[in-house]
Amino acid sequence: MKTRFALPLLLASVAAGSFLFEVGTAFSLDSVAQLLGAPGVIGIPPPGPVASDPGVRVGTPDAGGPIAGLSPGELAFFERGKTEFEEADGIDEGLGPTMNLDSCGGCHAQPSVGGTSPFANPQAAFANQNGATNRIPPFIRADGPVREARFVRNPDGTRDGGVHALFTIAGRADAPGCALGQPDFDAQLARGNVIFRIPTPVFGAGLIEQIPDKVILANQASNAGLKSVLGILGRPNIIVPFGTISGQTNNNGNDGTIARFGWKAQNKSLLLFSGEAYNVEMGITNELFQTERDETASCLFTPVPNNVTNVDAATPLEAISAIEKFAFFQRFLAAPTPSPDTPGGATSIASGGSLFVSVGCALCHTPALYTGRSTVAALRRQQVNLFSDLLLHDMGVGLADGISQGQAGPREFRTSPLWGLGKRIFLLHDGRTSDLAVAIQAHRSDGSEANAVVGNFNYLGESQKQDILNFLRSL
Ligand code: HEC
Ligand code: HEC
Repeated sequence: MKTRFALPLLLASVAAGSFLFEVGTAFSLDSVAQLLGAPGVIGIPPPGPVASDPGVRVGTPDAGGPIAGLSPGELAFFERGKTEFEEADGIDEGLGPTMNLDSCGGCHAQPSVGGTSPFANPQAAFANQNGATNRIPPFIRADGPVREARFVRNPDGTRDGGVHALFTIAGRADAPGCALGQPDFDAQLARGNVIFRIPTPVFGAGLIEQIPDKVILANQASNAGLKSVLGILGRPNIIVPFGTISGQTNNNGNDGTIARFGWKAQNKSLLLFSGEAYNVEMGITNELFQTERDETASCLFTPVPNNVTNVDAATPLEAISAIEKFAFFQRFLAAPTPSPDTPGGATSIASGGSLFVSVGCALCHTPALYTGRSTVAALRRQQVNLFSDLLLHDMGVGLADGISQGQAGPREFRTSPLWGLGKRIFLLHDGRTSDLAVAIQAHRSDGSEANAVVGNFNYLGESQKQDILNFLRSL
């Protein structure tokens, strides 16, 4: 079945002569010819071992430092922001009444501060910290991944989609008199109403923030013939400014430009994401999100918003609020450094990089985009090796989570940027696997735009698949 499916597509795309990337391709494309003459492609399994995920790359973190070329002032903001990002907050700083953890750095930890879920999930210990009486929901395990939960529907059947915090501050020694129950996760799970999201890493996030919309749109328009042959569409998550008179809140209307952060590209900027995360993940209100998500009077211990600009401070660094510090840290955080030779050696990695392009992965996972006219010199006109087009794609029923955010529908996700992938433990939006091979096959299900590309991948010989897996773990 798969031979009949994949080969004509591969040939069609070669015949169309459009295996060329107008924007930002870092790899040679002559591998298509090699591919067609290579063992495995004619459907005869070549000798040798079955390809497998080499696993998380060991050694130095290769991420977590500041971007090269920052001024002394910018570096000071990076360092101060990093401290704030790592710091655990208490009730006296506004933590809760409901939250998922008490620090940004706890969730964004692997392989260093700013990253994604660590092996050991800090939520397990946090649940009962300081006397808190939380029950640990069954989907939170000590061996990870860090998760937040969204409910698909409200009890009346209308769409919910929001984050429901896992824990409350009830029972904590520093929250005397607070009485507040957790959501009934068992009942929601039994109804199949809960979906999960794991943290996305923020390495290189300042570069992503500085990519002009027109670069994203030009890349979207590139290789149009090939994308349509392979069934790849992709559209930017443009947030419509204000709503019609619908009687609903118009959450996050913004300015109509392309949003790009989060699993569904639902957020525009690092400052916005920081304000949202401070309130949603940690329960700390701020100048962007001023209202407590839970206003149970017995559980509010500090004035609102909990964290604000210090207008009497002596220096700008002391004056700015925590969400600005978080944003500066993330904006000045360098991209991850790929390995030239680990795992599998330089030749295998180079071959994997070419195959990644020629089977069509790079049609969504664009190897490089470019920044524009940034006020920050170190972010100006830089190549951004993110391996994403920052567009939303229909990923079919297999990955669908039933949640809409902005224009992103229930089956749509932002092409996950693959830089730093070599160090990621948990994969896909809900962390359902740690195995790259499983993550690739999960792209293929009814309705997914990636079906033909995964068909091409499956058509490769095992040693070629291994080259792609080695390449991915070198990132
Ligand atoms: C309980 C765990 C948790 C905590 C605490 C947390 N985050 Fe996150 N973070 C997540 C998850 C989960 C996502 C993915 C959300 C989504 O897209 O649905 C995420 C995504 C992000 C992103 C988007 C990055 C990208 O490119 O996609 C940014 C920025 C971010 N977080 C910043 C912060 C900041 C700043 C803090 C502290 C105020 C913080 N986070 C605290 C779990 C956490
Ligand atoms: C149609 C666009 C598209 C194509 C083609 C595509 N991907 Fe993806 N990829 C995505 C999207 C969207 C996600 C996020 C899906 C999710 O988390 O539910 C993703 C996620 C991934 C992940 C997990 C990353 C993470 O952060 O956990 C890996 C690994 C990956 N892709 C590799 C590949 C490889 C290898 C190929 C080629 C065989 C490929 N992709 C082809 C769109 C695509």
